[in-house]
Amino acid sequence: MQNSFPLQKLQNIKTPFYYYDMELLERTLKQLREHSQQHGFVVHYAIKSNANLRVLEMIRSFGLGVDCVSGFEVQRALDAGFAPSGIVFAGVGKADWEIELGLDNDIACFNVESIPELEIINELAAKKGKHAHVALRINPNVNAKTHHYITTGLKENKFGINQWDLDKVVGVLKKLQHVSFEGIHFHIGSQITDLSSFKDLCVRVNEIQEWFIQQQLYPRVINVGGGLGIDYEDPDQHPIPDFENYFKVFKEGLTLRDDQEVHFELGRSITGQAGSLVTRVLYIKEGVKTKFAIVDGGMTELIRPALYQAYHKIENISSAAPEEKYDVVGPICESSDSFGKAVSLPKTSRGDLIVLRSAGAYGEVMASQYNLRSLPGSVYSDKL
Ligand code: LLP
Repeated sequence: MQNSFPLQKLQNIKTPFYYYDMELLERTLKQLREHSQQHGFVVHYAIKSNANLRVLEMIRSFGLGVDCVSGFEVQRALDAGFAPSGIVFAGVGKADWEIELGLDNDIACFNVESIPELEIINELAAKKGKHAHVALRINPNVNAKTHHYITTGLKENKFGINQWDLDKVVGVLKKLQHVSFEGIHFHIGSQITDLSSFKDLCVRVNEIQEWFIQQQLYPRVINVGGGLGIDYEDPDQHPIPDFENYFKVFKEGLTLRDDQEVHFELGRSITGQAGSLVTRVLYIKEGVKTKFAIVDGGMTELIRPALYQAYHKIENISSAAPEEKYDVVGPICESSDSFGKAVSLPKTSRGDLIVLRSAGAYGEVMASQYNLRSLPGSVYSDKL
């Protein structure tokens, strides 16, 4: 199938670059809004998945809040015009300056991951004569059935407070004068396609919030994190994730009480399908068993295949010739700098544009300057 990339317009742009399909991003956000608002759910966009300013501008226009995991992300969200009252801040290792930045801007909530962190937030808030809103990030020990590098909610992971420590945390929380308890926070992992993991999470959340209420702590906010996966195999068939059934799981699975809000922190499911990495073929090289298509983009622009053995669909948008098989590799001096082995592509030649699909999340934002390369540029479908 020929794809919908505007080849003529992309042809003369310096590669490699990220191409954002802004119409798709907008359609995705419309679906997200429709299906979350139906249940009164609040969505914070996980800015770690893509912090590109034009992408953020579109996301902000849909009224989402932001989930941050560093002071730099908090600053980027503020720079992009998001209201501090919609910013939540998670992360196991918040430095003092990052906590202070959050306090100075009166962000909505710190998602706290340990007792010492809770004490430091209290101490820094006291110095400023402020009150920090905090939610406790609890490790629910639920298996997300995803790649082990992106599983976060098992008891052996570094994230969150383990359930056997909750007694202690609540004891500390009750004594602190400069933090106020907002709610409980969970995140079990990323690229989750089996919705039963979210059902399991709901069961655990219900038990845990019951326990909190027994301790006379009322969680006004139940934040269930992010993690909804996308279809990397067939992005044209499933360009927009099934938000409807995803939100339904929580609507049906969570036992909510008066005035409780359910919050989500979605990243990949919002930005993933809207971005592609566009590279150009430098050389076709005959190998021993195979032909290499050597492209000018590599693991420096898109590290997911090298880091997680992640699959990204590869397309040659310049050629419609009969297919042959190629190992598609980048120019970086690492054997892991490979995008795919024995990939069927139309006969490929120097100068063809090769596109890596579904790279809108954890693509541009994870780019590095290894080999002293420059960071990739970005191009937007509505600005061509
Ligand atoms: N909330 C928290 C606390 C998180 O740690 C994450 C992702 C999210 C929300 C958003 O999850 P999402 O909806 O995007 O699945 N670099 C990896 C993914 C790392 C995810 C880290 N945490 C990748 O390329 O697959």
